Amino acid sequence: MPVITNINDLKHIYERRTPRMFYDYCESGSWTEQTFRENTSDFDKLYLRQRVAIDMAGRSTATQMIGQDVSMPVALAPVGLTGMQNADGEIKAARAAEKFGVPFTLSTMSICSIEDVAENTEKPFWMQVYTLKDDDFMQRLFDRAKAANCSAAVITVDLQLLGQRHKDLKNGLSAPPKLTVKSVANMMTKVQWGLGMLGTKRRFFGNIVGHAKGVEDASSLTTWTSE
Ligand SMILES: Cc1cc2nc3c(=O)[nH]c(=O)nc-3n(C[C@H](O)[C@H](O)[C@H](O)COP(=O)(O)O)c2cc1C
Repeated sequence: MPVITNINDLKHIYERRTPRMFYDYCESGSWTEQTFRENTSDFDKLYLRQRVAIDMAGRSTATQMIGQDVSMPVALAPVGLTGMQNADGEIKAARAAEKFGVPFTLSTMSICSIEDVAENTEKPFWMQVYTLKDDDFMQRLFDRAKAANCSAAVITVDLQLLGQRHKDLKNGLSAPPKLTVKSVANMMTKVQWGLGMLGTKRRFFGNIVGHAKGVEDASSLTTWTSE
């Protein structure tokens, strides 16, 4: 087991173990990737002010977010395809968030479904929804989220137009993925990842396939997504 001391160590392990297609999906942005870079570089400009000789007793980061007790005011943001980064990734992330005491947000474009995450967690999680044209799907998604005891709807309003993500195009990462000889060859080198994926039945968009009318397989998903 490698000695992990910081987030970069984890990133190296992540890069080594995960198929390029899914690593690039997470570690790149759209168009010039300016926002992607600045999401990190902006934080480099922030400094924590050191204070000494003051009473530090009873300090705590615990607070409340929308009426829910949290260990610190941070939530896991929705990340589509987490279950392709690692088998059952959304369930694992939700359980980790629960253990740490912060909210987990499930993406509509997740691999594990609302029901999968609810069955494998104790506390309510948050559900991310898009503003989609398919009213029937939206109604059902809200009904399912309520039935699963989700405590908040996180509404994403900036996806009317997809920014072009150059690496995804080159890697064939679309819904569904276009497998190329190169991407399959790369996947075959990720043994641990592959064994994990073979060991789970969750390998497709669990909130959509079988829930949106007419979306029963990969090809109908493409049509539904573009509409
Ligand atoms: C790989 C990746 C996948 C994401 N998937 C989704 C998604 O499925 N739904 C969504 O609403 N936001 C998605 N986001 C956006 C994030 O939830 C978050 O809003 C964004 O990264 C900004 O984070 P910040 O508010 O911490 O700066 C994704 C972001 C990344 C990097």
